[in-house]
Amino acid sequence: MKIEDIVEVASVIPVLEVEDMGAAVPLATALAKGGLHVIEMTLRTSAAIDALVAMKRAAPELIIGMGTIRTSDDIARSKRAGADFLVSPGAGPRLLAALGECGLSALPGVATASEAMAAREAGFEVMKFFPAEPAGGVKYLKSLAGPLPDILFCPTGGISAERAPDYLALPNVACVGGSWIATKNMIAKGEWDMIEENARRAAAIKV
Ligand code: 3PG
Repeated sequence: MKIEDIVEVASVIPVLEVEDMGAAVPLATALAKGGLHVIEMTLRTSAAIDALVAMKRAAPELIIGMGTIRTSDDIARSKRAGADFLVSPGAGPRLLAALGECGLSALPGVATASEAMAAREAGFEVMKFFPAEPAGGVKYLKSLAGPLPDILFCPTGGISAERAPDYLALPNVACVGGSWIATKNMIAKGEWDMIEENARRAAAIKV
């Protein structure tokens, strides 16, 4: 699936950290029931790979990316697990090349104009802007739209339900990501109804 098609069906992408495999299926079910189409698991826990496999099985209608990709090995493991796309928090030349060659769509992470230009040179037109709020947020992205009109961003990092519409109103923002829909705490406590409701609210936010 092309990254343009993935971000087309998602205004808000929940970014998920799953510590306990038992959470994978109810979490995927709650997010899908809430009406979200695209989600991002993060490769930050030992459960992440198996959780992605279980989520794909439980909710095949979901497009599931693997985030926190830092190495070629992360790419290979995530691809084997069935990730639909990959996301990295940042990217040097080696990771950009590996993401470009891996056969999956990817959102390389950038936080500055120079990094965005390097990713564009490596062939990427859509990228993650991370960490969005500390790196300058809406104001910074607005400033990039003039000189870099051919680049689209998916900002994540510090974004809340309240801030999301301001980002989505920018012409160079394709979608936003965030953990507010299903925080680590909500997942650990099994608050599936609250997560489903947050997903429903997030799905209702349109670009
Ligand atoms: C991340 O990759 O950590 C995401 O950007 C989530 O950020 P948030 O927890 O600040 O929403």
